[in-house]
Amino acid sequence: PTAHAADLVVFGGTGDLSMRKLLPALYHSDRDGRLAPETRIIAMSRGGLDDADFRGKVEADVRPGLHADDAEGWDRFLGRLHHVTADVAGDARTHPGWGRLARMLAGREDVDRIFYLASPPMTFGPFCRAAHAAGLVTPRSRVVLEKPLGRDLEGARGINDEVGAIFEERQIFRIDHYLGKETVQNLLVLRFANAFLEPIWNSLWIDHVQITAAESVGTPGRRGYYDHAGALRDMVQNHLLQLLCLVAMEPPARNDRESIRDEKVKVLQALRPISGTEADRFTVRGQYAAGEVDGRAVPGYLDEPDKTPPTDASRHVETFTAIRAEVKNWRWAGVPFYLRTGKRMPYRRSEIVVQFKDVPHSIFPGGSPNRLVLRLQPSEGIHLHIMAKEPGAGDVVPRPVPLSLSFADTFRARVPEAYERLLTDVLAGNPTLFMRRDEVEAAWTWIDPIIATWESRDALPEPYAAGTSGPAAARELLGRSGRAWHEEDLP
Ligand code: BG6
Repeated sequence: PTAHAADLVVFGGTGDLSMRKLLPALYHSDRDGRLAPETRIIAMSRGGLDDADFRGKVEADVRPGLHADDAEGWDRFLGRLHHVTADVAGDARTHPGWGRLARMLAGREDVDRIFYLASPPMTFGPFCRAAHAAGLVTPRSRVVLEKPLGRDLEGARGINDEVGAIFEERQIFRIDHYLGKETVQNLLVLRFANAFLEPIWNSLWIDHVQITAAESVGTPGRRGYYDHAGALRDMVQNHLLQLLCLVAMEPPARNDRESIRDEKVKVLQALRPISGTEADRFTVRGQYAAGEVDGRAVPGYLDEPDKTPPTDASRHVETFTAIRAEVKNWRWAGVPFYLRTGKRMPYRRSEIVVQFKDVPHSIFPGGSPNRLVLRLQPSEGIHLHIMAKEPGAGDVVPRPVPLSLSFADTFRARVPEAYERLLTDVLAGNPTLFMRRDEVEAAWTWIDPIIATWESRDALPEPYAAGTSGPAAARELLGRSGRAWHEEDLP
């Protein structure tokens, strides 16, 4: 489809997210012909830059990572960039920056107008009010909200109310960049465009599901945010629960803007609440101590270099969490969903593992149950472990071998970054891969009691050495029912 012309206003336009993810994604979209010729990108920040300064900054900071060797294409992209200096503090009607923005947008009311808030959540409400006061919100406007959407249900509701006072729900795009990852969308195709999985996609055949997002990076320089977030809020409330929803949801009747989201929210509402002693049994918190990652000595969380010194909040925050969740419905009764995420683990690896039950009766020695691994990163692919006979004339011994589909090898196309996909959808006005208000709130409803229990306990998170796969309790969480985390290194 031809892209509509748009004015994309990025608030926090010179920040980390914008420079590292949004601008590269926009450049690639432009290069692949997915931006209309008149589309403009207007970065907004307190930085006091003019258009030329901003273009210079993008040239210096963004271009080197892009291999943008097509000079003409790069110049066209630079030509789309503008910068406006403004803040959300003060009165938008008199602020010169907002006045300049209004003049830039004037006469383009028939063009899609997108306000992308790549800024902390406390600015979402004030930004929307300021944009409204400056008369900038048109019927063709949309607003994109970056996570985190609050720190708890109450905070999320507050933000949703504030933004909802200015924009209609259909205009609000809440980003969860995991939904833009290629394998995540492929999960929908795998489940709902193939017939063979559906009959066995239930508690009769599936023993358990594991969802892991392991990172080898730590949190240097992020203490200000991370001390008040922690792994549960930073990764589980959004990314991991979204993956769980896509694995567990019922087949939607249509692939339209609401059907998939309707099914996802039902999964969130079916999550069995975890609190009190159940939270003690079914959740694990860890914090990394000094250790070694990739052969390099790294400091513990509390000693990460940062402009803010560690506080009591730093000592209590989890950089690792593992949870045994349950979806209480007919399909999934009794099937544990193990979620796990952490910083400073030995590798960067995100995957969904569907572990099938063993054969009801085995006529061969050895063997192990089938397993389906959906790898999100580093190398995106799908691996189905089946039993095969080891070649030879001796005893028949079944051995697990992977049937592997690597997206890079099979499709020989560049796998787009999650943000590219999501920005394309924002520009096309397609909200399917964005979180609806009720989804975000249902997720917090499940998260809040876990946090409340953790806060009511004196205990600190269990330490784990950087470069290891988390605290011992995480292994115990599966080990006590005879299960183990999937640690295989796939191609
Ligand atoms: C972000 C979190 O949402 O996701 C970060 O705030 C985390 O802490 C990141 O590192 C992981 O994203 P990805 O795409 O690298 O798995």
